[in-house]
Amino acid sequence: MKISITGVAGFIGSNLCTALLARGHSVVGIDNMSQGEYENIAAFKAHPKFKLHKIDVRDEEAIIKVTTGSDVIVHLAAFKIPRYNDALDTLLINAKGAENVAKAATKHKAKVVAASTSDVYGKNKDLPFSEDSNLVIGAPDVKRWAYAISKMFDEQLFFGYHERHGIDVVLLRFFGGYGPNQNLTWWGGPQSVFIERALENEEIPLHGDGQQTRSFTYISDHVDGIIRTIEMPEANNLVFNIGNTYEITIENLAKLIWRLVRGEDDVPKIKIIPYETFGKYEDVMRRIPDITRARELLGFEPKVDLVEGLRKTIAWQIERRKLVGK
Ligand SMILES: NC(=O)c1ccc[n+]([C@@H]2O[C@H](COP(=O)([O-])OP(=O)(O)OC[C@H]3O[C@@H](n4cnc5c(N)ncnc54)[C@H](O)[C@@H]3O)[C@@H](O)[C@H]2O)c1
Repeated sequence: MKISITGVAGFIGSNLCTALLARGHSVVGIDNMSQGEYENIAAFKAHPKFKLHKIDVRDEEAIIKVTTGSDVIVHLAAFKIPRYNDALDTLLINAKGAENVAKAATKHKAKVVAASTSDVYGKNKDLPFSEDSNLVIGAPDVKRWAYAISKMFDEQLFFGYHERHGIDVVLLRFFGGYGPNQNLTWWGGPQSVFIERALENEEIPLHGDGQQTRSFTYISDHVDGIIRTIEMPEANNLVFNIGNTYEITIENLAKLIWRLVRGEDDVPKIKIIPYETFGKYEDVMRRIPDITRARELLGFEPKVDLVEGLRKTIAWQIERRKLVGK
């Protein structure tokens, strides 16, 4: 197949592209390099079945042009964390990017596989989250919700295009991805920052009291889930949770990473950062996916446990740091 990927130089995009090229697909990569890294695409940049276009997903004409002939458009480009800039960028980049991808898919009669997020479940306390669970969002002056709301809008937008224009769409709610090519700041998730701090022998910052939980998914499992939804028509026009069901508190994640980096006997250095530091803020206190739908319809099963995945990620992060002289 000919597959376009927006956000190809990012964490998920670059790993997905590697796997798709290995399966014989052709890939048209799109990225504006705002968060992507050339290092992430170095291994396949010269592959005869890969082409990179440095364009912005907000550029409708360019997106329609470069995706011509695509069987599938995988839409991953997004602005993820409002506090890295502002709520408006989050809302508008994610809304306009999704609209342009939907228009391109309609024009080329392509299927869309688009990234949503576990954050859409928000403050719902009814665990684990299944795809039909309620999406419970907080007040509009808490800027973190801009991200979840932009992805909820995207989900509705793609289903709207399916309804009106008949294109096939798949929406993927990813849970806590980690692994090689992850961004080394909070943009890449807490595990990136915790590994950095442990390698530097510096305090690991915990937001709130560290008792909030997350489910972390190794990148090869995310990629496996995405490929199943690209290749299997059974996935069409559905939402899927793609994640690992193992739940861990952020404090225990910090302690585990410290031990894996610095050895069993080293006492973890941890620093509490009160939520008030972020202004008006609300956290999600527990987050676990119900993956029954992906399991039953697609045969999806996460295979890499947290310790094994973190060991691989730490080894990769040490190598990536060397490239920037650390
Ligand atoms: N990583 C996770 O665990 C996770 C969890 C939930 C949802 N997601 C979603 O999955 C997708 C991929 O996430 P990721 O972790 O790989 O993020 P990432 O930031 O590593 O990759 C996104 C890529 O998109 C590019 N991009 C951003 N804005 C763009 C624009 N306007 N035009 C063109 N390119 C642009 C960035 O340069 C980057 O390379 C995102 O939509 C994200 O919301 C990821």
